[in-house]
Amino acid sequence: MSNCTGSDGVGPEAPVGIVATGSYLPEKILTNADLVDMVDTSDEWITTRTGIRERHIAAADQATSDLAARAAERALSQAGLTAVDLDLIIVATITPDMFFPSTACFVQKHLGASRAACFDLQAACSGFIFALETARRMIEGGGFRNALVIGAEKLSGITDWTDRSTCVLFGDGAGAAILTRSHDAHAILKTVMASDGNLSHLLNLPGGGSRNPTSEQTLHDRLHYLKMAGREVFKYAVGSMLNASNEALKQSGVKIDDIACIIPHQANLRIVQAIGQRLGAPVEKYYLNLDRCGNMSAASVPVALDEAAAAGRLKRGDLVLLMAFGGGFTWGASIIKW
Ligand code: UT7
Repeated sequence: MSNCTGSDGVGPEAPVGIVATGSYLPEKILTNADLVDMVDTSDEWITTRTGIRERHIAAADQATSDLAARAAERALSQAGLTAVDLDLIIVATITPDMFFPSTACFVQKHLGASRAACFDLQAACSGFIFALETARRMIEGGGFRNALVIGAEKLSGITDWTDRSTCVLFGDGAGAAILTRSHDAHAILKTVMASDGNLSHLLNLPGGGSRNPTSEQTLHDRLHYLKMAGREVFKYAVGSMLNASNEALKQSGVKIDDIACIIPHQANLRIVQAIGQRLGAPVEKYYLNLDRCGNMSAASVPVALDEAAAAGRLKRGDLVLLMAFGGGFTWGASIIKW
């Protein structure tokens, strides 16, 4: 395994940060009009309550690792690296290809990243921020040079397409970032992470695990689908992302006015608006894709980050605030100097 500091000319003082990003959205698009034919809903309800107009849906033969690998290939190409340059792959997902092995191992196989240590990290919709910080610390600790961090989901596979309160919300996709220690990297300045397992009952997938192993009864009770108490989750999502963002700003000595772009978890436009008001950041500062993508859980933040970079929304030196909230509950925020 390579030694990442001091011996290769970049020097130990170079920050650990993002050198490239990539994303992938499946071809198939499911519109609100399509959903009207499936459940008792309306385009008007979905757009006014959530801001979502359409979402991408993976093909039947596409697993989460297939989406993840496509995003990773784009990030590798942008970084000018090959798969064997990677020594770490972390995939954040709640929709792994299988219980085991990890989706990261399937991505490794797909890419041919033979030198990489691979594992999955599960922090629901906050997974990418948690994985980014994990990889940053692993590089900083020594022993790892180039890390591939992916948030990828095939939520369509755990969505109850008969439940109008959840099926209109989610989409599939993958976003990737490559982290290394370099003066050219977009440095990750501060990350705040938090959890509250007491509230796990408000957002979960109850069936198929060791608590409720798959049985005819769990299938009959539809326990293998995602369940969410939307109104409760909404309340906590606003407060938690706000707190994490304020904490990350405070700890890094950055003022909200100094932030050039905010990339929030893309669950609901009303959540973003509520946070924006309280944080004192105008809506123009947010990069949003939820109208086109819906909520992609761990993939939401990295897909939006990649799109914002590609659209020229992030200029070198800009301060970027990432924030996320999800099942667990888990939540977090990151400040990156682009
Ligand atoms: O990614 C992890 C974090 N997740 C989130 O942050 C999601 C947080 N929650 C939300 O975004 C919102 O709570 C939802 C979008 C899920 C729901 O919006 P809401 O404004 O909280 O609606 P509600 O659940 O309070 O439901 C209001 C009404 C209900 O009817 P009644 O009881 O008032 O007659 C629902 O049955 O809307 C009804 N409803 C729908 N009607 C048409 C629920 N879903 C639908 C639907 N179409 N798809």
